[in-house]
Amino acid sequence: MINEDLSYPSDFNAEVKNATEKLYKGVSKIIPEVEWPFHAPLIHEINKLKKEKNIAILTHNYQTPEIFHCVSDIVGDSLKLAYEARDCDADTIIVCGVHFMAETAKILSPKKNVLIPDTRAGCSLSDSITAKDIRLLKEKYPGVPVVTYVNTSAEVKAETDVCCTSGNAKHVVESLGSETVIFLPDEYLAKNIAAQTHVKIISWKGRCEVHERFTAKEILSYKEQHENIIVLAHPECSPEVVAVSDFTGSTAGMSNYVKDNQPQKVIMVTECSMSDNVAIENPNVDFIRPCNLCPHMKRISLKKIYDAIRFNQHEVIVKENIIDRARLSIDRMLEIGRK
Ligand code: 13P
Ligand code: SF4
Repeated sequence: MINEDLSYPSDFNAEVKNATEKLYKGVSKIIPEVEWPFHAPLIHEINKLKKEKNIAILTHNYQTPEIFHCVSDIVGDSLKLAYEARDCDADTIIVCGVHFMAETAKILSPKKNVLIPDTRAGCSLSDSITAKDIRLLKEKYPGVPVVTYVNTSAEVKAETDVCCTSGNAKHVVESLGSETVIFLPDEYLAKNIAAQTHVKIISWKGRCEVHERFTAKEILSYKEQHENIIVLAHPECSPEVVAVSDFTGSTAGMSNYVKDNQPQKVIMVTECSMSDNVAIENPNVDFIRPCNLCPHMKRISLKKIYDAIRFNQHEVIVKENIIDRARLSIDRMLEIGRK
């Protein structure tokens, strides 16, 4: 498709200024005042258009603050976005996250128009395994249930017994009542779960390219420099990093930890934007930021969200027979819930 009108709202006039003033107050701790006139016209237009067109913007915790705090209807971790995609009553869902999240939304809401602002927003975990790999594993371990992390393609989910996210992985593994489970594709998440359960875990060799870069040495040196600092780590980090952390949990788990405990100083061992978003909501907490960027999450921008709305792009399409099979594995996970 050729997009003819490629200009973007840029006039920071009185109407835009007034309409976005409250939003700016909310993010002023993170977004410098000189930058706001570049974001505000787009934010204003996106918020107007999405109401007119009955669009819901579902945004992952790793998106930048101007997206997360200023144009989103629902924000959260992968698990929350899945529930909300199933339950929301918008005609169109725009997923500000990566491709597997948009596919999950489409599988759960096949009649809705589901869009992703940039189709190249992938994930190293999702790329690490194919449906054929799963079929071969099932041949090798007949009768062993397959638990698959949601960070996978729809085709992989279609070969799976039940999905999980970092917010419910241990709970899902234990709910099956099996001595052994195949747990895919994140090697580190599998090891971190294996350390907390008696269930025997057969794992795969996938890694998150963002979380695998953190090292225990780096975290220990932050602890040395900052007395009483609380370290929160995502379970896609290595077991060595998890071992030197005070708490491990999904992106929502980490965010709730800060909200509930209000530590004086904290490090979130995860993607960079998480700390920015959580810092805005917790002004009394001091954040030390050893972050790594997820290049896939960072493909989403206000301009691309605006294009997604005005050009109805990029539609997420999943084959019907894949939707039917993948849906079973996601529904089972949603029934099991979060723990
Ligand atoms: P959460 O399910 O914790 O939001 O994590 C998703 C993800 O991609 C982490 O890298
Ligand atoms: Fe995938 Fe890691 Fe990026 Fe999450 S942070 S989307 S797991 S590459």
